[in-house]
Amino acid sequence: MSNITTSMSQYIEEHPELKYVFFGGKGGVGKTAMAGATALWLAGRGKRTLLASTNPVHSLSGLLEQSVFGAPTPVQQAENLWAYEIDTRETIERSKKEIREKIQWFLKFADISTKADDFVESATMNPAFEESAMFENMVDLMLKDEYDVYVFDTAPTANARRLLGMSKIYSLWVDKMLKSREEARTLREMLSFTKKKEEDPLLGYLLQFRQRMGQARERLTDAGKTAFFFVTLPEALPIAVITRFIGWFHDFGIPVGGVVVNMVLDKQALGDGTPEFVLNRVQMQDEHMKTIWEKFDGSVRAILPLFDQEVRGLPMLRQAGQALFAGG
Ligand SMILES: Nc1ncnc2c1ncn2[C@@H]1O[C@H](COP(=O)(O)OP(=O)(O)O)[C@@H](O)[C@H]1O
Ligand SMILES: [Mg+2]
Repeated sequence: MSNITTSMSQYIEEHPELKYVFFGGKGGVGKTAMAGATALWLAGRGKRTLLASTNPVHSLSGLLEQSVFGAPTPVQQAENLWAYEIDTRETIERSKKEIREKIQWFLKFADISTKADDFVESATMNPAFEESAMFENMVDLMLKDEYDVYVFDTAPTANARRLLGMSKIYSLWVDKMLKSREEARTLREMLSFTKKKEEDPLLGYLLQFRQRMGQARERLTDAGKTAFFFVTLPEALPIAVITRFIGWFHDFGIPVGGVVVNMVLDKQALGDGTPEFVLNRVQMQDEHMKTIWEKFDGSVRAILPLFDQEVRGLPMLRQAGQALFAGG
């Protein structure tokens, strides 16, 4: 058996510049609940805090019991706290429109008399497009710098990793695009009789895009500014998920803040009349806690009990926050 060496609150104290906080883990382990409890706790300490969801399947409105869809909305009865479920559909439509404009411009530039629609369809009709639109949304929020702290209720694990991997791929892609754009531009200038120099909006866009992605990556890989916390239960599958996840994040150079163990049965509540079913579950959890200490010793930041009700509404979020930030 081991103990928590650096608690959640100590971690926060040791990272005074912390600005981007994420929670990852298997579905249903309590990511949204932890994100909400953390945002409320940080706001309570005077930080202007935005709790944001880029996940197309939102749950913040349910968590806070008020609608926070479509715009950053002040959370009732909580100072310094805003919450925001990003409208996925709107984002996608906007991105499509932007892409359409760029393609139309390009077709005109290249003297190609094809309708832009076919290109737009093939550029946007793939599953990665939605994710990439969500990623850009997140980057927009991050770079606007309107809040002291951003707590993101992330998409399920595999997506989050892809999103982060994407910032690297984006950069490579844009570099390549820029190169061919510049070549095309030089060629066109050479061939041009008029010799008049045109502004190239596509080139400008790509340059700006690369700059923004670079900035985002810089921040997301800065251990002073960013922390990903991984939530698990004392059960085999959620442990396997975060083990894999933490490995990926190390590979990507993205800072791992630590591990939060949720829904642990309170042994002190057990009496003589405890049913066998509960005793068995406690024993199962004990076994998996051993694995957790073996694998994540030094990285466990908090252990939260299984409450007798869901984590929903401010009073329960406060209670969860107390457990998450206990001992400091
Ligand atoms: N410690 C806890 N005790 C009791 N219920 C919890 C606890 N943590 C989370 N829950 C509940 O478990 C469910 C799943 O949590 P949620 O935060 O939505 O998970 P995720 O975002 O990882 O899918 C929700 O109903 C939530 O209220
Ligand atoms: Mg969730």
